[in-house]
Amino acid sequence: MLERDIESVLFTQEQLAQRVQEIADQITADYQGKEITLVSVLRGSFVFMADLCRRIDLPCTVDFMSVSSYGSGTSSTGQVQITKDLSGDISGRHLLVVEDILDSGNTLSYLLKLLEQRKPASIRLCTLLDKPDRRVKPVEVHYSGFTIPDAFVVGYGLDYAEHYRNLPYIGILKPEVYGG
Ligand code: IMP
Ligand code: MG
Repeated sequence: MLERDIESVLFTQEQLAQRVQEIADQITADYQGKEITLVSVLRGSFVFMADLCRRIDLPCTVDFMSVSSYGSGTSSTGQVQITKDLSGDISGRHLLVVEDILDSGNTLSYLLKLLEQRKPASIRLCTLLDKPDRRVKPVEVHYSGFTIPDAFVVGYGLDYAEHYRNLPYIGILKPEVYGG
């Protein structure tokens, strides 16, 4: 049913699972002897976060934050608003911010600056997807799943107007769905 709005599949469930495992192995190796706090940026990263955290073999806590930078359109407004803040204190913690996609960089450059002010022991960014062609603000990425071209993608947590998050794979949305 959701399938008919998808132009093509970019990453299958199997490809996603394999890449998530690779990233988790890297994180596990990099943070040996440390405890980390995974910060999921809602809502887009909830699926990635759920899969990633179960592959990381380290003591870890999880927390969630919600920001809005988009209306229901497909391009960033540059305006970032925190709609749900973290529940816990992050000072002295090793933070790993988990995002679904890095696009213009507006959301993450704002968010990372804000989190740095709370004095974590360290802060790194893990994004499943990266669209470097669209970058407006520079953002340092430590873990990136896939670099993708400038197309609007949905599934595996990513939405268009809050829909398609439950697709198990990542697909390119047909432009006619969003009037493109
Ligand atoms: P940025 O502030 O422009 O980097 O936007 C980041 C946010 O925009 C992501 O967390 C997503 O919620 C959303 N976004 C950017 N590109 C896409 C896309 O292709 N599909 C779905 N959401 C996207
Ligand atoms: Mg979104």
